[in-house]
This record gives sequence, C-alpha cells and structure tokens, in this order.
Amino acid sequence: MTDRSPISEWENTNRIDGVFSKKYIAELKNRGNSDLAHFIAKQKDNKSLVFILENLGYLPKNFDGKFLIPLLNHEYSKIRLLAAKNIAKLSNLDNTAILLQTYQKETDTSVKREIVSAIGRMRNPDNKKILIDLLQDNDPKIVCQAIRGLLVFENDSEVVEKLKPLINHPNEMVRTVIYKEFFAITESSQNKSPHPASHDCLKNVVVNSDVLQALKYVPDESIHLTFTSPPYYNARDYSIYPSYQHYLEFLEKVFRETHRITKEGRFLIVNTSPIIIPRVSRSHSSRRYPIPFDLHPYLVKMGWEFIDDIIWLKPESCVKNRIGGFM
Ligand SMILES: C[S@@+](CC[C@H](N)C(=O)[O-])C[C@H]1O[C@@H](n2cnc3c(N)ncnc32)[C@H](O)[C@@H]1O
Repeated sequence: MTDRSPISEWENTNRIDGVFSKKYIAELKNRGNSDLAHFIAKQKDNKSLVFILENLGYLPKNFDGKFLIPLLNHEYSKIRLLAAKNIAKLSNLDNTAILLQTYQKETDTSVKREIVSAIGRMRNPDNKKILIDLLQDNDPKIVCQAIRGLLVFENDSEVVEKLKPLINHPNEMVRTVIYKEFFAITESSQNKSPHPASHDCLKNVVVNSDVLQALKYVPDESIHLTFTSPPYYNARDYSIYPSYQHYLEFLEKVFRETHRITKEGRFLIVNTSPIIIPRVSRSHSSRRYPIPFDLHPYLVKMGWEFIDDIIWLKPESCVKNRIGGFM
C-alpha cells in the first residue's frame, strides 16, 4: 500500500492534533486485518502506537493478530506490555510459546506480569503446567497472576494440590488470596441480616457508657461504618493510662470488638495523630508518640485492611484547647 492509497487519505481526515480518534481505530479494525497491521507498522512515534494499542478494544473472532508478535520485542516497555495485553485477547494457543519465551528474557516486571496474565486468560488446560511453574517466581505479583490463571481450574485436584500449600507463602498478598479461596469459612447467610440492612435497635441511638461495655451489646457484623476519635494517650485529661503500652492494648481491645461488629468490606475511620508529652523539667526532654504508626500493626494483625490516610491540615490559628474559645 502506498501513501496515496485510500487509507492514507482517510487517516489524514481522522487525525485531530496528530492523534487518531477511538472511532477511527474501531473503524480501521473492522475494515480488515491487513489495513490495521499496515497502519501499525507505519507508526513512527511511540505515542501514536500506545494510543492505538490502548484503544483496540474487543478483537473480532478469527482476528489475525500476527502483527502484534514483533511488538513484544519493542524497545519501549509500555508497547511490549500493550502487545501482550492484546495478544491475550486473541486466545490463540499458538502464541503461548512465544509469550513464554518473551517472559523468560523480559526484564520489566509489569510486562512480565501482563504476559503471565495473558497466558492465564487463555483458560486453556494445556497452560496449567506453565502456570504451576510460575508459582515459584520471586515476584509475588507474578505468583498472584499465576494463581488467578489457575483458579479457572479450581475443581482440578492437581491445581488444588499445588495452590493450597501457598497458604504458607512468605508474601501476605499470596496468603490472603489462598486463604480466601480455600480456607475462609463461608458462613451460612441464614442467621445474618442482608448486607445493606442495619438493626433497628442501633439506629439513631446515643449511648453514654464505657466503650468496651457498650460494644458487648452490638451484634456481630451489624455495622457499616465506625468513625472514632480515641483519646490521645495521656496528652489530654480524658482518661489516664498507666503506660503507652497499656494505652495501645486498650485500643487493641476496642478495635478488635469493632472488627467483630463490622460488616465484611465495611469501614473504620480512626481520627488520631502523633502527640507530644511535654518534658518534666528543663533538664529532661519531651517525648513524641507516633500513635498512628504504632497502632497500625495492631489493626492489620486483627484483620483490618489499610485503605488510606487522610491528612487534616489545621490552619495556623488552631490552638491546643479548642473549647477554650478558639477554633
Ligand atoms: C479525642 S476525644 C474525642 C472527642 C469526640 N470527638 C467529641 O467530640 O466528643 C476522646 C474521647 O473519648 C472518651 N473516652 C475515653 N475513654 C473512653 C472509654 N473507655 N469509653 C468511652 N469513651 C471514652 C473521652 O472522654 C473523650 O471524650
């Protein structure tokens, strides 16, 4: 095809600021395979190539994606990654060997993961052995991708036999996936209220009590959101703890109970910050207690999953004793 072919004219009318529209790529894809292959081969800049590969979308049945294979060796890693992603859509088993070879020489971890994902997405039992071998990879994300590919064959005894021992894998993400798939007790929903529902007795009530006493009356998995601002150790006179360790253990008890009453997938927001306990005299030093950082390991250990931290940036005019008449 020369530059004077109809496709070139068509191309020129479909570029806006040098970039092709998604609609144009879809039309080109449906015009036929050789047009798309030719068009891709002509792209001189990586930006255009990335845009096209990112927007190829669904590939029609019997789509000949041979032109994608050389892109697995492209110098730009993003293009190699997108090539692997699109090759996965072809579900062509003949591509497994080439994907595996590319994986073995690939140095970019994201591309490697995409290749493993591509092999898994073929959902072909012939790829089981490859995926089982990949469970030995040093990169936990590769292991997770291989697990994902293998879980398609969850009723296969060989697959189950290889996956279950990963409950002792050194990586926590791998252990969590295996726990959820094979070890978590799936409680019967018979005695539980529907997920969005809340007990009427818990709605619009104010309770004046010690937190640990009150929590005893709250049923398991009945709460969607807890927002709490616990005491700042002994920085204020709300309550006095004999030691920082006692304080952390008190919070541990409270948040373990909070975990019990929280519905699966719902949230706990803890409003806290590092505090300073002023020095006893000029000959001593003040001490800073990093409460959020020290609390975090307790929370994770009891089953909470960390989602995010939100910084409350207080303006200059804020002062220690807000109730003293300032902000
Ligand atoms: C950092 S303040 C939060 C104040 C709250 N945001 C408010 O506006 O009232 C901590 C609060 O926890 C309360 N507190 C301390 N120990 C408690 C316990 N064992 N049970 C219930 N509340 C407690 C304190 O009295 C204090 O009011």
